[in-house]
Amino acid sequence: MNNQIDKIINEHCGSIEKGSLKRIDSGNNSDVYAIKYKGYNAIIKLYPNDENDTRDRLGVEVDFSKMLIEEGLKNTSRVIHANKKEKYAIFHKLPGNKIKANEIRSNHWLELVEFVLEVNKIGLSVKDRCNYNASEAFFCVKEHFDSIEQRLKYILSLDKGNSKIEYDIFIQRKLLKIFNNLKEHVLQTNHLYNKLLISKTLSVSDIGFHNSLIYKNKLYFYDFEYAGWDFSGKLVTDMLINPRNLIREEVAINVITELESRLICDKWIEDLKWMIPLYSIKWCLISMRIRKGYTFEDKTQGYIWIKNANNYLNRCNLLYKAICKHLKLDFEFRDFYTI
Ligand SMILES: Nc1ncnc2c1ncn2[C@@H]1O[C@H](COP(=O)(O)OP(=O)(O)O)[C@@H](O)[C@H]1O
Ligand SMILES: [Mg+2]
Repeated sequence: MNNQIDKIINEHCGSIEKGSLKRIDSGNNSDVYAIKYKGYNAIIKLYPNDENDTRDRLGVEVDFSKMLIEEGLKNTSRVIHANKKEKYAIFHKLPGNKIKANEIRSNHWLELVEFVLEVNKIGLSVKDRCNYNASEAFFCVKEHFDSIEQRLKYILSLDKGNSKIEYDIFIQRKLLKIFNNLKEHVLQTNHLYNKLLISKTLSVSDIGFHNSLIYKNKLYFYDFEYAGWDFSGKLVTDMLINPRNLIREEVAINVITELESRLICDKWIEDLKWMIPLYSIKWCLISMRIRKGYTFEDKTQGYIWIKNANNYLNRCNLLYKAICKHLKLDFEFRDFYTI
């Protein structure tokens, strides 16, 4: 086990239920342990020590979790204890299991929508209390383009060793091309590039089935490190195109229709026309990250990433076409993905 967890147990938990400490094999960021102590069935989350990351992940997650509970949400986790200095927090363990991609049905999507709507509604009553934005929240179209451009440049600048040629060709010929084509198109569309995005909602940000558990057919949500105020269209875009949330076209249309009519905020739907292609580039780049590194550093994952990224872009292309067609988005239609 890890020294830090021993220290936390000694200093905070005291005696623990025998055999109850288990490391949870989790995502890319945090170290998470399940533990039983003093009658608690709990989760200890250790936050990463990254000097380049200035965001107070622990502070946001703890504050946001408390806020949702205070506002009456039942399907999120209560904070038991938080220690900012030692960078850990303890939460009540939620019930249930991870839902597998092939088990996700349209009723699960509608439950996800209900959760988004509840958080949106909570935003109305915590306007003065909650004063932080979601991570990478931008409220001007140009800023969204700038941030993705920066990511592309950064990834291109990395030393990719033996995989350099394949990766850089894919990034330049595919991702950068989609980016440039889209940006040119947006620049040519009346005032779109400099448009301010006024539609805001409170958002948990990293939303999806990857951050939820299912118990007795009900979803429970956690992982609010990136939460805060966000552009509403960004929240919807991330829900639809997060590579881990495979969604069928007709379900995506239902999700958009529900959110368009029920989210309490200014209009955001028109902006899906540039956001979906733009953010599919970001998701490709994010999927290049593996625990403490990049796929190109790992022999077994290196080429699989390119194949998966290609498949993902093809899926986004089909989804994007279906959404544009259904919503009759008045963007001079261009096939950004097949260039
Ligand atoms: N409150 C909780 N109850 C039950 N399991 C949890 C809870 N919080 C986290 N987990 C488990 O730990 C894993 C990682 O936690 P998460 O908050 O998503 O961290 P990360 O920021 O690394 O994605 C989750 O996928 C889940 O299995
Ligand atoms: Mg997570």
